[in-house]
Amino acid sequence: MSRATAQAPSNIAFVKYWGARDLKRALPYNPSISMTLANCVSRSTVEVLPDGAPDQVLLGGDSGELSLAPAAFADRVCQHLVTLRAETGTQGGFRVATKNSFPTGAGIASSASGFAALTLAVTAALGLDFSDEELSILARRSGSGSAARSLMGGYVELPTGIVASDGNSETASSEDSLSFSIQLADADHWDLRDVVAIVETGPKEISSLEGHKRSLTSPYYPRRQELLAQRLHVVRQAIAERSFSALGPVLEEEAIDLHLIAMSSRPPVFYWNPATLALLSTVRTLRDEGLPAYSTMDAGANVHVICEPEHEPEIARRLIAVRGVRRIIRDRVGTGPRLDVEPLF
Ligand code: DP6
Repeated sequence: MSRATAQAPSNIAFVKYWGARDLKRALPYNPSISMTLANCVSRSTVEVLPDGAPDQVLLGGDSGELSLAPAAFADRVCQHLVTLRAETGTQGGFRVATKNSFPTGAGIASSASGFAALTLAVTAALGLDFSDEELSILARRSGSGSAARSLMGGYVELPTGIVASDGNSETASSEDSLSFSIQLADADHWDLRDVVAIVETGPKEISSLEGHKRSLTSPYYPRRQELLAQRLHVVRQAIAERSFSALGPVLEEEAIDLHLIAMSSRPPVFYWNPATLALLSTVRTLRDEGLPAYSTMDAGANVHVICEPEHEPEIARRLIAVRGVRRIIRDRVGTGPRLDVEPLF
């Protein structure tokens, strides 16, 4: 039976995907831009089973053992396998094992890296040769928009795929085939670091999916869309010019904005806890002391502090001392997915 193993990284967004035209296929309302990480990765081994065989979803443990995945996790994986079978015109079942480099319950989102690794491993096991752009579309169709960006290294943009055929935005439609990831710059272009302060280790109460749904009810959502064009422009340019002083303020403003939308959604979504606020304050203090550091957050309470390499050790030292911080994960911009990795079975 044919088998393949893929490894794909997580990513941290500088401009956030929040709100979708089509949640099932994660067709976003706005473009997002992220930095692909190096150390927080998922590995997925996939074996093609005979036609009609049921899918099997396993989790890899620390000492190499495999166990059956919990139902909620297995269901999401199986759903994506159904999509991938339809997209590739295959009938076989799949035996899938997944393992994250970061400890389960570390509070690091694994769906981006997990679905990117799964998509790559399935297509490789089937012997199909897709471009990175095509793979990003397939990964996005898992329903995890951030997974699309994890198919490439460095700095990556996921456009909306929105086209206004007659130039009229009223009649604009989303083209699924046009929302594929684009690499803005590779990892060698700019060595940025992400010091992640973990303050919450359990699964979040409100999923990203639910947050995306509710975002459209925020009275500030339309204003956010207006502000995004300028922010996207600044972030693209800051990356091109490696200007940390241009990038930092926008990435922090953008994260606050995402949470402002969440908190003003109906019903509201609060992802922060007291330690989140303490960290945001610490990062501002670090800047007052002359240390360039900017914070960003996904749909959760953990704080990612983006910085340049020379400031990383001091920033990590200061963040671990903040009350409520359980651990620090030090990561950096990474080169993207790989197929030359050790199989899980
Ligand atoms: C706040 O729908 O990609 O991280 O599937 O749960 O990982 P998951 O989330 P997804 O939404 C991502 C939301 C975000 C912002 C971002 O990464 O762009």
